[in-house]
Amino acid sequence: MAELDVIRSRALSELAAADSQQALDAWRASYLGRQGAVTQVLRTLGSLPAEERPKIGAGANALRRELEEALDARERDVKAAAMAALESGSIDVSLPGRRGLTGRLHPITQTIRDMLAALGEMGFQVAEGPEVEWEYYNFDALRIPEHHPSRDTQDTFWVDHAADGRRVLLRTQTSPNQVRFMETHKPPIRVAVPGRVYRYEATDATHEWMFNQIELLAVDEGINMSHMKGTLTQMAQALFGQDRPVRFRCHYFPFVEPGAEVDIQCDLCKGEGCRSCGNEGWLEIAGAGMVHREILENVGYDADRYTGFAAGFGVERIAMLRHSIDDIRHFFTNDLRFLRQF
Ligand code: PHE
Repeated sequence: MAELDVIRSRALSELAAADSQQALDAWRASYLGRQGAVTQVLRTLGSLPAEERPKIGAGANALRRELEEALDARERDVKAAAMAALESGSIDVSLPGRRGLTGRLHPITQTIRDMLAALGEMGFQVAEGPEVEWEYYNFDALRIPEHHPSRDTQDTFWVDHAADGRRVLLRTQTSPNQVRFMETHKPPIRVAVPGRVYRYEATDATHEWMFNQIELLAVDEGINMSHMKGTLTQMAQALFGQDRPVRFRCHYFPFVEPGAEVDIQCDLCKGEGCRSCGNEGWLEIAGAGMVHREILENVGYDADRYTGFAAGFGVERIAMLRHSIDDIRHFFTNDLRFLRQF
């Protein structure tokens, strides 16, 4: 009986402190639930001497009823207090909710992921290479010798560091990864290499000193230009729609032969020429070509057996065309009014 008194006073003081439905539920479980203190007492009745059972049984049942009533009363009070708080205006239920801030992917990241997904479907794996690069991989290994005029078309950020007379730079293109990947892998190769590239030039609406490229390389027996055209056309149409015309135009790059630039038709004028395409009717999205035989030989491949194609896509250019963005500088000025649109 003394134990029942202890339970009773502990239960009532805890109940008085419970001020939410959650606390009341927990209280109910710990006293009246299946594992609750009062229930435990009733369960142990059988082990008591026969003459004590009626008295303690009646006491425990009375305590159970008392606690149930106390719980009902307390529940009514807690609910009434919650209503009073609402009505007193201390909670303004008409106040508009505050939207949680959700992060999102940068439009360039989204474009890179879309492009890699389209390439993945065609069996291309993804690799990466260093942004700080040896002069050798960025230029010499790609048949762009010192004093060659095409070095001037990619003005370089030089890094103030050299080792054994080997110069270091910020890569001006992702093409060094053609050589890096072939040096460490054997054909068949299908690889895509996304990454940032840097060029020392004045910025304007279409030029940035840092931008992204995705390099493509496929090397195998029997690879020819139709594989290149098919792959790049499928890429372009995955990005710009199945009906978008694509054209290949001869172009010189020292590391491919033959070389081409890849254009999609301007959607505004359908090839007629307008202000948005600089009167061309077409918009360039990539450089491409068949890997130069000398490069295959330099990495130790049998160039009579293996051939390949390579391509380099300009990611910002593609994102601008897809979203009608008129200035490349928007991408990296971190203006939330711009970024929140994607
Ligand atoms: N690296 C070239 C550029 O940046 C593009 C290119 C890649 C051309 C692969 C041909 C083959 O302009």
